[in-house]
Amino acid sequence: MAQGVVIIGVQWGDEGKGKIVDYYAREANIVARFQGGNNAGHTIVVGGKQYILHLIPSGVLHPHTECIVGSGVVVDPEVFLEEIETLKKLGIVDLEKRVRLSDRSHLILEYHKALDAAREGGGGGGKKIGTTKRGIGPTYEDRVARRGIRVADLFDKASFTEKFESNLKEKNFLLKEMYGCEPVSVERAVEKYSAIAEKLRPFVADTADHLTNQIAAGKKILYEGAQGVLLDVDYGTYPYVTSSQTLPSQCALGLGSRFPDNTLFMGVIKAYSTRVGEGPFVTELKDATGEKLRKTGNEFGATTGRPRRCGWLDLVAVRYALRVSGITRLAITKADVLSGFAELKVCVSYEHKGKRLTTVPAVTQHLEEVTPIYETVPGWEQSLVNVRSASDLPKSMWSYISYIEKFTGAKVSLISTGAGREAVIDIESAF
Ligand code: GDP
Ligand code: IMO
Ligand code: MG
Repeated sequence: MAQGVVIIGVQWGDEGKGKIVDYYAREANIVARFQGGNNAGHTIVVGGKQYILHLIPSGVLHPHTECIVGSGVVVDPEVFLEEIETLKKLGIVDLEKRVRLSDRSHLILEYHKALDAAREGGGGGGKKIGTTKRGIGPTYEDRVARRGIRVADLFDKASFTEKFESNLKEKNFLLKEMYGCEPVSVERAVEKYSAIAEKLRPFVADTADHLTNQIAAGKKILYEGAQGVLLDVDYGTYPYVTSSQTLPSQCALGLGSRFPDNTLFMGVIKAYSTRVGEGPFVTELKDATGEKLRKTGNEFGATTGRPRRCGWLDLVAVRYALRVSGITRLAITKADVLSGFAELKVCVSYEHKGKRLTTVPAVTQHLEEVTPIYETVPGWEQSLVNVRSASDLPKSMWSYISYIEKFTGAKVSLISTGAGREAVIDIESAF
């Protein structure tokens, strides 16, 4: 029996982590986010009602859970408060008691968002990443550059103003001179953040200390990753990645607390592949099949609404991602989307200039140049929408799952067959 369960995305995000976290949250005491920010969009559907969470952990819909936003998360305080208000309106209760925000989290401030948008606008001539323009990259940059402003700083107005003003000198120079954009006004911003601080106060806590105590007390902890391994700043398709570490090893760092002794690492994969933004995507389908996946899978971003690029399952990338992250269990989502394909393809190696590659190369340019080598496997006609038991799954779907297990060495523990909370086939429990 595990005391800790880590749920992270294995591909380029949007694997369905929100749904899987909501499912396991039934059995958890605490659900914690440890990296990323509101670039994430995690969707949960309960009783036909859709909830999209960007910052608050996806366990929040269960009234018994406590939710932690750890120090590794970059927090746009306005978005945090808006999300709390939205949840209240939707009838989610006790948020002041149940949601805790780390006093050490770095703040996404106006100038971070302005810079992210300016860079993506191409004014400075830099590379377009296709970011969510939520200020994520510039905030993580400031963190390691030791000029970031943290949640705790909001409560000392004089010190906050001094830091903000000092940072603005450089940011406004860049915004005006380099990118030709409007500068950020210091007075307006300082007043705004001062009002925000008071609203934020009930949620702010030393979450590292709290979590450490809760783990010692035997509480069950569910860790919720954002983005995915292939968007990790070190192990993803650099530089087309996000600016945080998305691997399970980041949980302890991003929360300031050790793992429970018995912690299980589970990865979520979509039964095919999708990606939003720029960057290499070996199995991308720019044809009618890709369009069919997008339409059936409703593949449009939960944060930006952008159409997601779609393609076949890339098992080379999945196996690589599992190895760098130490994941041994898999949840497969969107299996229902593959119904009605006579055949399915899975990518089992890459060919690069006459050579076979069996893993993801460090030179991202090579990924742009490779040809996918596919295995073709039989598909299934049957709709999975109401299938709730493993024994009712079509035979060819079992072959698809076995193929994935054999290729990756990971065990499939859960299959999701629809967006709703109830559309789950639970093969092997996690907690
Ligand atoms: P996340 O960022 O990993 O939490 O994933 P997103 O919420 O961004 O995107 C996943 C999308 O797929 C959402 O619209 C979910 O409601 C939906 N979804 C999740 N699991 C399934 C599934 O098994 N089948 C179908 N059809 N949709 C699913
Ligand atoms: P969830 O948690 C999918 C992508 C962006 C872009 C790159 C960098 O919902 O799976 P950023 O704004 O982070 O600097 O953008 O990363 N990206 C995501 N793609 N799902 C996400 O989150 C993402 N968060 C960031 O599209 O390519
Ligand atoms: Mg998402």
